[in-house]
Amino acid sequence: MSAIASRRVPVRLEPPYDIVVGPDVLRDAAALIGDRRRVAVVSQAAIADRYAETLANVLPTSEIFLIDDGEDAKNLATVESLARRFARWGLLRDDAVVALGGGVVGDVAGFTAASYHRGVDVLQAPTTLLAMVDAAIGGKTGVNLAEGKNLVGAFHQPIGVLADTTTLATLSEREYRSGLGEVAKYALMDDVVADPSGIVDLLRLHGGAVLERDPGVLADLVTRCATIKADVVASDPMEHTGIRATLNYGHTLAHALETAGAYSLTHGEAVGIGLIFASRLAEALKRIGDDAVDRHRAIVAALGLPIEVPGGVGLDADTLVRLMQRDKKARGGLTFVLAGPNGLERVDDPPASAVERALAAVGVGS
Ligand code: GLY
Repeated sequence: MSAIASRRVPVRLEPPYDIVVGPDVLRDAAALIGDRRRVAVVSQAAIADRYAETLANVLPTSEIFLIDDGEDAKNLATVESLARRFARWGLLRDDAVVALGGGVVGDVAGFTAASYHRGVDVLQAPTTLLAMVDAAIGGKTGVNLAEGKNLVGAFHQPIGVLADTTTLATLSEREYRSGLGEVAKYALMDDVVADPSGIVDLLRLHGGAVLERDPGVLADLVTRCATIKADVVASDPMEHTGIRATLNYGHTLAHALETAGAYSLTHGEAVGIGLIFASRLAEALKRIGDDAVDRHRAIVAALGLPIEVPGGVGLDADTLVRLMQRDKKARGGLTFVLAGPNGLERVDDPPASAVERALAAVGVGS
């Protein structure tokens, strides 16, 4: 048994569910699955090799359904293949699906569960930092089309989330860093001065332990980030009021950098740069002062993420602005989530000169 206790974060929706965080919490799956007759565990080969047995021990009526690795597997063909395999196995509406893996598994298994028999219950069991603090919470599921990412999907809230932090020990450095950008986002989304979630304090005191993946510190960090996400989702479950869109803080430039793909930035690195850019843009618009910009820089740097685009990559401001205009959250022109006197807000069409200045501040010339 681990000495680190598990924690429960409530997601106050109707019906409510819990995010259970801590080492070895996969063993708690049976309590969440209850008396459902069959359980289809969707995973990928390398993850299943490590953790499927733990689930099989506590879920004797489960069966593993593997999908391919990578973003390329996040498509309708994988959903069809899974649904057909579920049907041949005899999965029915009162049964359940478990999504054991990172964001691709959560999205594909979640969307298949949302549509199979017009909806079967899904338990999310994220195995990456990114999925634990973001994708597995809040019910967004979906797959890509050739025409764009996440174009087909559904809101399908899980019956629970099991964030087993022992799985973080074996993540590649790249996958781990992909989640750290979201951690920086949560720290900066909150009031970093009052720090109600305690994330800023935790990073200040234990930044090194986060980078070394100390199990106790990680359980604490995931719990605090998941709490913010749960609260945002509960106040705007279907992304209608704009509150949920604040989860996109730092992501407008990050998506453009990732789409441009000129260099191999991880998602977390791209979000780190995107957060610094957002702070510089807010500063250029006189929404925040130097002190807030400094706090952005300190938090992104404490997580070992870059504060500007690595040199010599040859991406110019025009290309990035064009890509940001195509960001799916934008309605026509350029839309950002920016800090200001009233917290995070949507800001439409800031002057081009301010955008250029902010891009220059993260190392992108015109
Ligand atoms: N990842 C953004 C959201 O769940 O709304």
